Amino acid sequence: MKPKSIVLILLTTIINFNLTVSQSSDFGIYKCKNNTSTNVFKQDITKSLTSLTGHVASHGGFYNSTASTRVTSTALCRGDIGPEECEKCVKTAIPSLLRNCPNHAEAAAWYSDCIVRFSHGEIVGVLDTWTFDKLYNSASVDKGEVSEFSEALSELTVKLTDLAANGGSVRKLGFGNVTVVGSGLVRTIYAMMQCTPDLSKEMCRKCLFNASEEIGKCCRGRVAARVFYPNCFLRYSNEHFYNDPPLISSSGEAKSGVLDTWTFDKLYNSASVDKGEVSEFSEALSELTVKLTALAANGGSVRKLGFGNVTVVGSGLVRTIYAMMQCTPDLSKEMCRKCLFNASEEIGKCCRGRVAARVFYPNCFLRYSNEHFYNDPPLISSSGEAKSGTDLYS
Ligand SMILES: *[C@@H]1O[C@H](CO)[C@@H](O)[C@H](O)[C@H]1NC(C)=O
Ligand SMILES: *[C@@H]1O[C@H](CO)[C@@H](O)[C@H](O)[C@H]1NC(C)=O
Ligand SMILES: *[C@@H]1O[C@H](CO)[C@@H](O)[C@H](O)[C@H]1NC(C)=O
Ligand SMILES: *[C@@H]1O[C@H](CO)[C@@H](O)[C@H](O)[C@H]1NC(C)=O
Ligand SMILES: *[C@@H]1O[C@H](CO)[C@@H](O)[C@H](O)[C@H]1NC(C)=O
Ligand SMILES: *[C@@H]1O[C@H](CO)[C@@H](O)[C@H](O)[C@H]1NC(C)=O
Ligand SMILES: *[C@@H]1O[C@H](CO)[C@@H](O)[C@H](O)[C@H]1NC(C)=O
Repeated sequence: MKPKSIVLILLTTIINFNLTVSQSSDFGIYKCKNNTSTNVFKQDITKSLTSLTGHVASHGGFYNSTASTRVTSTALCRGDIGPEECEKCVKTAIPSLLRNCPNHAEAAAWYSDCIVRFSHGEIVGVLDTWTFDKLYNSASVDKGEVSEFSEALSELTVKLTDLAANGGSVRKLGFGNVTVVGSGLVRTIYAMMQCTPDLSKEMCRKCLFNASEEIGKCCRGRVAARVFYPNCFLRYSNEHFYNDPPLISSSGEAKSGVLDTWTFDKLYNSASVDKGEVSEFSEALSELTVKLTALAANGGSVRKLGFGNVTVVGSGLVRTIYAMMQCTPDLSKEMCRKCLFNASEEIGKCCRGRVAARVFYPNCFLRYSNEHFYNDPPLISSSGEAKSGTDLYS
């Protein structure tokens, strides 16, 4: 038996016991190419690989390094994991890859959470076909189920290949599930397919097509399997192994925000506008809060803020309403929108016609008034600096 086969059997065994574990420490597969038996490139390789760390997550999960002119390195993180797991996987992979492929001009390492590679040649934007590997669970579905199971999986991989291939230049990822109803048993298959985003749509499609074909050969009926190529992978399981939605946004921002709904409170001014004005006033305010919600939700990862005014012309009286809405910037756009939507609804309930009111949630607030209560422009820039030329103490 060749040493590699022993390793594969061991890995397969580990995977069997550990299928739901997605930590980077659960396994590593290494492929080395072109044993140069010299140390000529060693420094370059180390330099190139090391320069990946700290940059992968912040670039949305893929990064290529140009730290060395003679060696290119790349790292791809699984598209659904968070920035910390991503960076941890890459950091762990580098010394292991160097240890496993000490004299080689090209190599790749696959983990649950990332793929790390280096090469003396071009690897960015190139579809590599020199190697692949697979892992599978020893358990299979019942014989009578195999054909329905395989058909459903194949349908799913076609869909996910499309999703991944059509992904942008930051991430080419597809994941999803399919339900197999057969022999009185209902099964759900979960799958994920991903390419390195430097590939063209057509290259990604080719890579994932091979992966799907390979799954049909190695792993027909297996309850879980993975196939790895230098530029892509396919993984499926009977367990829900991925984060939906992904924990890392394509801009590289952590999506760690938690939208809290356990409490809220309000304050309002006892004065109200005249009865005849209430409906025009409320409509104008509502128009304004819709606008400010969009402004705040579309804010960046530093500040999610909207403020502005609206003028109500009614009963011969001209009124201006000033409002401000803000979310904690850790929230995603959608979470911010939800929080401010509730705030606007609440204002309509508690405070219809009040000249001024505030609603507070753990992650957002809305305040409006007939007085101009805010600084326009804000006195603190999004970089956290005081805007020069503004005297904060005047
Ligand atoms: C092996 O690597 C050396 C050094 O980079 C290179 O000159 C040579 O062309 C490579 N050979 C193959 C077969 O890739
Ligand atoms: C690479 O070459 C060196 C020196 O010839 C040899 O000792 C080593 O076993 C080779 N490694 C592989 C993986 O072929
Ligand atoms: C990644 O590779 C592309 C294409 O070769 C190159 O244009 C880009 O500068 C590289 N990025 C880094 C950070 O080295
Ligand atoms: C399965 O996929 C559908 C969309 O195709 C999604 O709505 C549903 O939430 C998924 N189910 C699970 C358990 O992930
Ligand atoms: C796909 O498989 C075919 C046939 O085995 C092979 O010629 C080709 O190089 C493979 N492509 C990739 C991207 O692995
Ligand atoms: C009211 O908002 C407009 C923009 O919508 C702005 O140009 C104007 O300066 C604001 N008025 C006051 C008094 O803040
Ligand atoms: C918004 O209001 C709905 C209905 O009252 C509630 O279920 C939900 O938790 C609220 N969300 C937030 C962010 O407050």
